[in-house]
Amino acid sequence: LSKKEYQVTFVRPNGEKVKAKASEGDSLLDVVVNNDLDFDGFGACEGTLTCSTCHVILKPTDYDRLPDKPSEEENDMLDLAFGLTDTSRLGCQIIMTKELDGLEVNLPETINDARS
Ligand code: FES
Repeated sequence: LSKKEYQVTFVRPNGEKVKAKASEGDSLLDVVVNNDLDFDGFGACEGTLTCSTCHVILKPTDYDRLPDKPSEEENDMLDLAFGLTDTSRLGCQIIMTKELDGLEVNLPETINDARS
């Protein structure tokens, strides 16, 4: 069975939109890596929930329809992210499904690597 392909759009702080392809089960970090997206420092800890550089900001409607609420570990890490908003998540914890096809997320102005 070939995996379904979905689309994700990342919006840079300057408003530039970057479209990417995603497969079922990919995290947004996987999407950034697999599409070779050049987001400086993004995903520094490779999804091990120790860096917060994969911080993305969702639209409130998208935030609400994500199936999983942030875990305690994710919230702890989000607290260390720059420019935290009410609809912030960590990209490595958002998993693509059919429901999220066409998802658009904003990248924050600055990232903070919580490990440094
Ligand atoms: Fe480091 Fe997500 S990639 S917390």
